[in-house]
Amino acid sequence: MDVNQTIDTFTSFFREHDHQQIPSSSLVPPPGDPVLFTTSGMHPLTRYIEGRPHPLGRRLTGLQRCLRTTDLDETGDDSHLTVFQMLGSWSLGDYDGPQSLRWGHELLTGGLGVNPGLLYATVFGGDGQVGPDVGSQRTWTELGVPVELTSGEENWWSNGPTGPCGPDSEIFVWTGQQPPSGSPMTDDRWVELWNHVTMRYRRLDDGSLIPLDQPSVDTGMGLERLLMVLQGRRSVFDTDIFRPWRSELPGLWQLDERTLRITSDHLRAGIAIIGDGVLPSSTGRGYVLRRLLRRVLTLLWRDDSSRSVGDLPTVLIEHTLDRFGQGTEVGLVRGVLGGEQRRFGELLVRGRKVLGQLKSPGRLTETDLRYLHETHGLPPELVTELLTGQQVTIDR
Ligand code: SER
Repeated sequence: MDVNQTIDTFTSFFREHDHQQIPSSSLVPPPGDPVLFTTSGMHPLTRYIEGRPHPLGRRLTGLQRCLRTTDLDETGDDSHLTVFQMLGSWSLGDYDGPQSLRWGHELLTGGLGVNPGLLYATVFGGDGQVGPDVGSQRTWTELGVPVELTSGEENWWSNGPTGPCGPDSEIFVWTGQQPPSGSPMTDDRWVELWNHVTMRYRRLDDGSLIPLDQPSVDTGMGLERLLMVLQGRRSVFDTDIFRPWRSELPGLWQLDERTLRITSDHLRAGIAIIGDGVLPSSTGRGYVLRRLLRRVLTLLWRDDSSRSVGDLPTVLIEHTLDRFGQGTEVGLVRGVLGGEQRRFGELLVRGRKVLGQLKSPGRLTETDLRYLHETHGLPPELVTELLTGQQVTIDR
């Protein structure tokens, strides 16, 4: 099943169950929103989950572009991406969590064709404030899916320290070559696929929970991870979404597998962020963009300083903007990428010179790092990158 068939199967299923399809919002939340980027499908729906009526009704479905920097260190592994798309379904004060799980199971094992014997679910086991999620536990048992109660925050979802939150039930699928063994908590060949959250509470500033007037259900399933499972691939980078990257990049730059994955991920994320109107800068969203692009350039220049993002084939920029439903001009994206490459190149030249002039370049203190940052605009992570491979100690 290719990417478009998969999206269509998901959204059609929910449309057939009276859900209205909503368009993706921008990666950049509206002014006044405390978070930098849209991190989940529910994020743009927060005020509706808090009780405001949605113009399209109480049952919604959609595909939302999301960005998560919490997983940045894991980029390059089989299943994490910086920018990805999340398939979602929502009940805004309409049906309950168990109904959502039953539909989820029907869709996964029916239209999407996942072997029911390869599923496992986890549910909230309760804590000092909220009791165990017995409704979800019972539903999974009725559906014949093995279920595990977890402790602590494992099955509790919130979009931030305050706001709507609640217990979630996560559906895992077995990705091992051998028959399934262990459970999601003991064997990482169980990969999390779909999360169903019952938004029942609002967390206040003091940490206390108050019940929402109308509980909602919010589900989210990473599209790329789903494709990895449906297409029987080892990693999200081997799905059809990355086919153009896999075919174009090796002819341009010779990269090992991990570098190819990080480069594709970060360039794709960079293009999508620029596509939503963000420019590189030294703070906030622009800084996230800058760090992604500079990390790519550092990786590319590690082996060959003549490599240039200016050589990036147009088809990759177009494919990415298209994938995320963005109408931004390719030329604008190219201009931003090129501008950041130029600035970074100049900074590196200046950085090497300044570092060479330090009294004891073999030993850097916190004061040196602050001086390099404040006086020469060289952020500590760049200094560390410049010194990679040299015999240097940083006293922290
Ligand atoms: N908000 C939940 C998540 O991001 C489900 O959509 O996993």
